[in-house]
Amino acid sequence: GQARPLAGRRALVTSGPTHEPIDPVRYLANRSSGKQGHAIAGALARLGAATTLVTGPTVQVDPPGVRVQHVESARDMLAACQDALPVDIAVCAAAVADWRPSDCAPQKMKRGDAAELGLRLQPNPDILAALSAAGNQRPALVVGFAAETERVVEHAREKRARKGCDWIVANDVSVGTGTFGGDDNTVHLITDDATTPETWPRMTKQAVADTLAERIAERLGTAKGA
Ligand code: C5P
Repeated sequence: GQARPLAGRRALVTSGPTHEPIDPVRYLANRSSGKQGHAIAGALARLGAATTLVTGPTVQVDPPGVRVQHVESARDMLAACQDALPVDIAVCAAAVADWRPSDCAPQKMKRGDAAELGLRLQPNPDILAALSAAGNQRPALVVGFAAETERVVEHAREKRARKGCDWIVANDVSVGTGTFGGDDNTVHLITDDATTPETWPRMTKQAVADTLAERIAERLGTAKGA
């Protein structure tokens, strides 16, 4: 096919963890290297999409040719995503913290302050669900990730329905797969038009990104203005 099949399209990718402050020096976060999300942003840009990457704190370098917005918290990530709309494609690969401390202490908490410390938490916005329900701003294709440790495809199917996204990329992160922080990934793709999920062979996160970007390009069809 064409070298830049996503020319004229706009893409949004989330990546990395979010940091939810407890006090000025401490935070809650999920494990996430950002490798997969950053690779997807780079792959979409190489296929010609005008790509915005909204990322939480990671050690990954900004992918070339991508507009990168660095954020800390889930609320900041949601706001940056909403600012990036409208887009044709949204891929949510971030490991967003589902909860944040209800209160952020204004000063660093000291070890001697309490014998036991309780932390009250409140739910964070679900960015994937919000983008999937963005009304006339809804991207034509919304792709979510599902990191599962058991019954991977079944849970991913449920997630796709619950979040309202179009596709789910499910990966098995059970202990021993080495997916977390590793270079390889084994994924299943659950689309809206297939009854049986695809299982991709084990490949690098870079190859997952390139394969997913190609599939997105096929799905969206001919480049705009081509
Ligand atoms: O519910 P769960 O966190 O397993 O869903 C994972 C998918 O939802 C991923 O695509 C992740 O980026 C997205 N997500 C999100 N905002 C949240 C939680 C998850 O965008 N608050």
